[in-house]
Amino acid sequence: MRKIKWLILAAGEGKRMKSSLPKVFHKVAGVPMLFRLLNIADKLNIETGVVLGKNIEIAKEFLKNHSIKIYEQKERLGTAHAVMCAEEFYSNPEEFTLITPGDIPLLEKEDVENFVNFAFDRKAEAAILSFYASNPQGYGRVFEIDGEFFNIVEEKDANEEEKKNNLVNSGIYLFKNKHLIENLKEISNDNAQNEYYLTDLPAILKHKGIYVAVCKTEKEKNFLGVNNRKQLAKTDSIAISRNREYFMDEGITIYQPETVRIEDNVEIGKDTIIYPGCVIETGTKIGENCLIKTGAVIINSEIGNNTAIYEYSHIEGTKIGQNCNIGPFARLRQGTVAEESVKIGNFVETKKAVLKEGVKASHLSYLGDCEIGKETNIGAGTITCNYDGERKHRTEIGEKCFIGSDTQLVAPVKIGDFSYIGAGSTITSDVPECSLALSRVKQKVIKDWPKKKGKKCRN
Ligand code: UD1
Ligand code: CA
Repeated sequence: MRKIKWLILAAGEGKRMKSSLPKVFHKVAGVPMLFRLLNIADKLNIETGVVLGKNIEIAKEFLKNHSIKIYEQKERLGTAHAVMCAEEFYSNPEEFTLITPGDIPLLEKEDVENFVNFAFDRKAEAAILSFYASNPQGYGRVFEIDGEFFNIVEEKDANEEEKKNNLVNSGIYLFKNKHLIENLKEISNDNAQNEYYLTDLPAILKHKGIYVAVCKTEKEKNFLGVNNRKQLAKTDSIAISRNREYFMDEGITIYQPETVRIEDNVEIGKDTIIYPGCVIETGTKIGENCLIKTGAVIINSEIGNNTAIYEYSHIEGTKIGQNCNIGPFARLRQGTVAEESVKIGNFVETKKAVLKEGVKASHLSYLGDCEIGKETNIGAGTITCNYDGERKHRTEIGEKCFIGSDTQLVAPVKIGDFSYIGAGSTITSDVPECSLALSRVKQKVIKDWPKKKGKKCRN
């Protein structure tokens, strides 16, 4: 593909979204709409600029790790005016600029490549991308003759006959910069919305005898615009279903796929099986041959090969090694690291917990701010008491320890390797290695106590 620059128009107020967040930062498949376009630009190595409007400060915060140029359109006077606010971006008259809206999250890399190649193949200095819409309502209607541009009529300016045309404007254009520099100022706002329409530029160029190519496509879905929350939901569904199809093609089994949500920036290894109702959010990497059972929610986490996540487990910001068994009903929070062959069973909650190889915490525990050595067994009901009401403290447990059921480990506290804690203990000071610690009251038995109280002890 020839070298071009890409200007994204995103200064619209997004009024129909009824949101305090600028429209292009609403997420589709877990990624802000604008970032989906920036990802394409990255892949194609295209220098990018974006025109923003109100809320530019929120937008700048979002974009702080991106090397893109930001321009501000202070007043929303239309798409042509938005382009004029980025004058410096297209100042070299011999170069070409791709202009697109920011609210078309389903655009794919191939759409950009095909369109740019289409224009250059025809040696066009201006081109517009149009598509056949099943319902053209709301779009500008495109009129052309044998692929040569004739006119665009905006919905609000169209008569009944014009409205019947279902070849519509995607809002995607390619212009030689010279034509932007020389002609944008000729556009007037004499239309139904009193806006400076960028759609008038192709007509101006045509009148000057410049050939404007019209690229026509059937891929309607890829150009769907998001103006309200219903359209956001619709584009999200399409993006998610694309992801599922991609993974099925890559050798992943997904049962009842329509119930499974897999966002962008997810990796899954082959032969992994995903059951209905799972949610796998952005930033997650799952290895090969894993089992992800019904209702599992996995967010920004890493899971090694041959690991099983059982029903209704919630996993966030966690790293799990290979051959582990998690859940059902486990909750692994931020900073949990489970190395190889770890078992975390039902109703176990972990946070900033490092569980070394072979650790088992099979039932009903809270493990927070702790490190647990290899092959240690954590009994049911064990709690690391990490919070003293003001600060968090750490618990360190050595390897091959046995922590009896219903133990409270009052942090900061350390348990040495090979040590045992008797069930029901409250451990408040360190236990050296190879010891037994007990802190419960010695058991007392009073024979015939119920009888003395006048209770029956036989039927
Ligand atoms: C626009 C096109 C229409 C096309 C449709 C495709 C115009 C006049 N109409 O209509 O032909 O079919 O897109 O989706 O261009 N924006 C600014 N500043 C402004 C106005 C808009 O930056 O002053 C940005 C918006 O943030 C948005 C894009 O330009 O990303 C398009 O604006 P929008 O209001 O959504 O235009 P449509 O009515 O959808
Ligand atoms: Ca739009």
